[in-house]
Amino acid sequence: MNSAAINEHPRMSKGLGRLKGKVAIVTGANSGIGRATARLFAREGARVVCCDIQESINPRVDKLIEQDGGEAVFARVDVTLQADCDRMVATALERFGALDILFNNAGGGVRKLIHEFTDEEWNFVVNLNLNGLFRGVRAAIPHFLKKGSGNIVNTASTFGLLASERYPAYCATKAAIVNLTREMALDYGASGIRVNCVCPGSIETARFRGYPPKPTPGFTEEQRARMASSNKALLRMGQPEEIAYAVLFLASDESSFVTGHALVADGGQTLDA
Ligand SMILES: NC(=O)c1ccc[n+]([C@@H]2O[C@H](COP(=O)([O-])OP(=O)(O)OC[C@H]3O[C@@H](n4cnc5c(N)ncnc54)[C@H](O)[C@@H]3O)[C@@H](O)[C@H]2O)c1
Repeated sequence: MNSAAINEHPRMSKGLGRLKGKVAIVTGANSGIGRATARLFAREGARVVCCDIQESINPRVDKLIEQDGGEAVFARVDVTLQADCDRMVATALERFGALDILFNNAGGGVRKLIHEFTDEEWNFVVNLNLNGLFRGVRAAIPHFLKKGSGNIVNTASTFGLLASERYPAYCATKAAIVNLTREMALDYGASGIRVNCVCPGSIETARFRGYPPKPTPGFTEEQRARMASSNKALLRMGQPEEIAYAVLFLASDESSFVTGHALVADGGQTLDA
């Protein structure tokens, strides 16, 4: 394994086979939370379809997983396009013969006041965070219904539970994901499908640490300190693998009686909100 692979997720432990025999799709898999989760899923025995619009981060996540002894395939997927989401499900079925877990994680935002948003910026965020999730589940659920089981985990945010200044489309779409998670859990529970979401606080992803992990030029110590202190109890930024472990719990059978839940992993950011 090269040094980037070793250094990239130092908090990730050896797998315990918690997803042995499962096939998982991860969107936004080549960076940040998705990248750590795809790697963790594979360490826990899953075969992973790693979906992303970019493959510029080196080594690409599927290669990293293979170096780690796991099984993965990369699919260039834009979650805002239904045809791409249909293809990611087809890839899981064709390459690995099954689909058990869908982790809808791709997302992003634009920081500015709502009256300054262009239609294009607003639609970009809604399309990526909310419609992308809709398209992903619309592709996967017919398959889950046919086999009588399935597991969906969505990435929301603490900003779906509280407000963050100058982040209107992001806050609105992440709040929508929290309640859509509950709604889908209600609709599909009787069909053997569980639906949950994670709400990360401030996480040190590619934007802040680069690859291999290192402080990103331009991200000042003052900014880092501000983000760290926003996670009010633990007073540090979270690492992507700390969210990956929360996702793993929801995606595994260990959470078999949990559905419709928004699992907060935020170093205490929401404690006094
Ligand atoms: N980092 C944080 O502090 C934080 C906190 C709360 C929630 N989140 C959420 O976590 C999720 C992952 O964010 P991250 O911090 O790991 O970001 P990131 O930028 O490191 O990774 C996001 C990945 O998604 C991919 N992506 C973007 N648009 C896509 C599309 N249309 N189709 C497929 N892939 C696409 C990007 O190419 C990138 O690889 C997002 O939903 C984000 O809103 C992040």
